[in-house]
Amino acid sequence: MELNNLFSCLWNQYTQESPQALKIFDLFKKEGEEVVNDHIALRTFDDPRVNVVKLGKFFEQLGYVACGEYEFAEKKLFAKHYEHKSDPLQPKVFISELKTKEFSPFLQQQAKKCVDTISDKTLNSLELLYSGACWGELDYSVYKKLLSESEYAAWMYVFGYRANHFTVLVNQLKKFHTIEAVNTFLKQKKYRLNSLGGEIKGTPEEHLEQSSIMANKVLVKFKQGIFEVLNSYYEFAKRYPLSNGKLYQGFIAKSADKIFESTNVKLSNRKVKDNESV
Ligand code: NI
Repeated sequence: MELNNLFSCLWNQYTQESPQALKIFDLFKKEGEEVVNDHIALRTFDDPRVNVVKLGKFFEQLGYVACGEYEFAEKKLFAKHYEHKSDPLQPKVFISELKTKEFSPFLQQQAKKCVDTISDKTLNSLELLYSGACWGELDYSVYKKLLSESEYAAWMYVFGYRANHFTVLVNQLKKFHTIEAVNTFLKQKKYRLNSLGGEIKGTPEEHLEQSSIMANKVLVKFKQGIFEVLNSYYEFAKRYPLSNGKLYQGFIAKSADKIFESTNVKLSNRKVKDNESV
């Protein structure tokens, strides 16, 4: 499968469950913009069968190279980002893994159980990257238990392998020159921004500013019935040049820690009344 096919496959899957991303993408198009992705983000567990290195290999085979490495102490994540060797307009790929060993035996067992159900064929093919939660029927009590330990683990359990989010590269927009302009536009269109730690994460001095809308809710079928679960957000990034004149291509762990909060259930429910089912 070619790289562009892989990305459109991931995009279609992502926008099916996060239709707000497609709506915003279309709003930009209506403004005459051609949307270029800064990066896509994938999540996984630290199990060697599916860890960052393993998923990264698929991208290496498609012309990517491993670049920055990141530690998220609070969320207990390790991440790497990959860049395309020759085409700077291809999105960077940000892959994080949950350090399951730092969690309860229950969480570790659940993560292992999930990975155990993935066939060898899928584990060794690109298909893995969009195989979703291929571990069969979901149990709501497992979801709730995972959620009490890690939002990330609970998200992985329900959604599995797919793009967690896509990120618009603001630098490539013609009408919107700043992240503030993008945020204002989104708010005019009634989207809720993740405002934890400010609507804009990062500064020009850090060479990267990012914002995101709050994750949308989707109805998910569990063994016990249908429940509302938080899914994914859409992100926006503006990059600034380094002293060598080249745009900074890395990520800022501190900002990403806050961006991860876009899927924080409690935060999302702050202004939402019916949070009974979450
Ligand atoms: Ni991101």
